[in-house]
Amino acid sequence: MWVAIGSVVLGVIILVFWFYRTQTVWVKSEPYLRVSIEPAKTLVVVYSRTGNTMSAAKETAKYLNADLLKIEAPQYSRNLKGQMLASKHADEEVTTTPIDHDPVDLNQYDLIFLCSPTWWFRPAVPLWSFVENHDFNGKRVFLLMTGNSRKTDERTGKFGTLVEKKNGKFIDALFIKRGRVYWQKTPEQVNEEVLEALKERKKIWR
Ligand SMILES: Cc1cc2nc3c(=O)[nH]c(=O)nc-3n(C[C@H](O)[C@H](O)[C@H](O)COP(=O)(O)O)c2cc1C
Repeated sequence: MWVAIGSVVLGVIILVFWFYRTQTVWVKSEPYLRVSIEPAKTLVVVYSRTGNTMSAAKETAKYLNADLLKIEAPQYSRNLKGQMLASKHADEEVTTTPIDHDPVDLNQYDLIFLCSPTWWFRPAVPLWSFVENHDFNGKRVFLLMTGNSRKTDERTGKFGTLVEKKNGKFIDALFIKRGRVYWQKTPEQVNEEVLEALKERKKIWR
């Protein structure tokens, strides 16, 4: 009896510790530096709270020889307060929040790749804000999301609608499921999956 209770308590502690770590620790990835004298035709825009989407975005930028633009949103910091705010805003389907990034002129690009974690079945709020703040002027826009479990077409579909409202041509969305706890993919496995998905769609990028 006590062994069973002890096992359950231990299991709960491990789960809480795992959850806390995934929300507070930044997953590192190699720096990305574009090496080309030609101006890039593709822009990869990324918001990442804990580093997983950043790694996938860099893989994408490398494959597409793209410029990489990072969005910061310190209000969603890697602590409990930031986590709770992220959760609240995502659940309320907020579409604007303060964001920081280097100045960017979208006119130079043919293809804009937006990369985001999934928050409550939809892209994270900073990505919505980026779209709200820009005119896509007929550019093709592709969405890449990473998540533990799933997105919904209903909530993510609204993101596509916003892109179109901001004059972008929303091509498609790709969701990379990382899984949870013991079933979670490593960043290398996620990157491999991203690369495969990009190669499968290679006609789109030309
Ligand atoms: C507030 C919040 C809500 C989340 N909701 C979902 C969800 O609805 N579906 C999902 O698959 N993952 C969800 N996740 C997990 C993240 O999308 C996933 O861990 C993502 O890969 C993290 O990316 P990042 O490390 O770039 O921030 C959520 C995470 C947070 C912080």
